[in-house]
Amino acid sequence: MNFLNQHKKLEKHATLLLVLSFLVVTIGGIVQIVPLFYLENTIEEVEGVRPYSPLELTGKRLYVREGCYNCHSQMIRPMRDEVERYGHYSLAAESMYDHPFQWGSKRTGPDLARVGGRYSDDWHVQHMIDPQSVVPESIMPSYAFMMNRTIDGQYIEDLLRTYRRVGVPYTDEMLENARADFRAQADPDADHSGLLERYPGAQTRNFDGQPQLTEMDAIIAYMQVLGTMVDFSTFVPDESR
Ligand code: HEC
Repeated sequence: MNFLNQHKKLEKHATLLLVLSFLVVTIGGIVQIVPLFYLENTIEEVEGVRPYSPLELTGKRLYVREGCYNCHSQMIRPMRDEVERYGHYSLAAESMYDHPFQWGSKRTGPDLARVGGRYSDDWHVQHMIDPQSVVPESIMPSYAFMMNRTIDGQYIEDLLRTYRRVGVPYTDEMLENARADFRAQADPDADHSGLLERYPGAQTRNFDGQPQLTEMDAIIAYMQVLGTMVDFSTFVPDESR
């Protein structure tokens, strides 16, 4: 009872209440935040996640340039309806090399975090040229012009170097071969051994079906890798964290 009486005093004294509340919040904040400064990495690394290949990274830049993120998120939340519709919920590690990340909460169109492998390249080409021809009720705009815009990877080494500067582990070898890898990925006749060693599991083929390398190749290469790096038939979450 005595204790409650004292608390009453505190409740009636605005300044004292403010000072003590501040103290409590500060202690709580420190307890939560300080340990994070001593952790080297807050993301659980997951087998299979690798930096984007030069062509995929170019596709990602085009995705950002065209503002696809205004209508599409890339983050499947661990809720039943989302997991049933889109697949395994997104792991932090899956977007650890994304700068900027593409999570988002605005979905005018579907989430794209696991769109890789869901459709054929031909479907993507047709859908990008004329979305309504494959999904009549679609309100997605046409990106047909990407079929005509050729790309040659002139600045791809610099792009990789920039990503390395913000923490993506591109090696010297990856930088040196950036332009060759960029071309090889969309060329079915090229030697892909080096590319596949540097970027395991990279899909190599002519993505847009045209002889020249275009923005359409890059954006489809990017769509087809999304959500495919982790093998969820063998993935086990690390419960010790
Ligand atoms: C104005 C909003 C809007 C923008 C901008 C937009 N989309 Fe879409 N997108 C949609 C809608 C709506 C759908 C669902 C209907 C359909 O499939 O066309 C869709 C569907 C898709 C699908 C099929 C997804 C699935 O699981 O069925 C892909 C792939 C896609 N968009 C890629 C892109 C890319 C790449 C860009 C940027 C170059 C882009 N979208 C820009 C609205 C948009």
